[in-house]
Amino acid sequence: MPKIIAGNWKMNLSLEESHTLCKALDAIKSTHEIIIFPPFVWLNQMTNSTKNIAIGAQNCAAFDNGAYTGEVSAKMIAQTKASYVLIGHSERRKYFNEKNASLILKVKQALAHNLNIVFCFGEDLEQRKKGEEKNIVKEQVLDVLKDIDPQNYNKIILAYEPIWAIGTGQTATVEQIEAIHTHIKNVCKEDLNHVFKILYGGSCKPSNATQILSTKNVDGVLVGGASLQYDSFHSIIHAV
Ligand code: 13P
Repeated sequence: MPKIIAGNWKMNLSLEESHTLCKALDAIKSTHEIIIFPPFVWLNQMTNSTKNIAIGAQNCAAFDNGAYTGEVSAKMIAQTKASYVLIGHSERRKYFNEKNASLILKVKQALAHNLNIVFCFGEDLEQRKKGEEKNIVKEQVLDVLKDIDPQNYNKIILAYEPIWAIGTGQTATVEQIEAIHTHIKNVCKEDLNHVFKILYGGSCKPSNATQILSTKNVDGVLVGGASLQYDSFHSIIHAV
């Protein structure tokens, strides 16, 4: 079964490094879908230098156009020929105060410009310690998706990224991953009548990728740190 292997580069890599890595990834023969999320400013160069992998932006504006200094619209992203956009990453929620109201607008903007979406959700450590994770993730997903036209659900992939596992080296256990993925698949089926694909993200690396990718209800991975080097990302792609 082909999986989705996505790399979120965050605010890393020079133009030259990005170009070299993208070209190398583009040459990999794989049945899996590979998606790379480089910084905005490299999008054009990355889409022009690749044909086999998909390229996406790490964020988009909640508005179509206008006086929003520093923002980049979904319309502009679509013009770079990027085909995906990441929305709701926990770093955007934490450092840039993104809330559901603006995430709904961003999802609508992305869909209006025919972009595919990877929508991220996940609980923090305190919420998990209190046993609130299932309610938190359900709310994060449903509060946004219930506002979206069901005709567009097939353009949306979900990504479960427990905040305590991001960049910490502490990966969630397969039991924890399976429990949340199964829960969200069931909740979406019941409330939205759609089964979404769900990626796992959070300290995914070559040593744990096979196990994560073989976990029930895991449709792929969203990789941060380990996507910045060819060798580690290549190993993850070949882990299944
Ligand atoms: P790490 O793989 O570095 O933990 O990052 C995960 C992530 O945030 C991907 O979006």
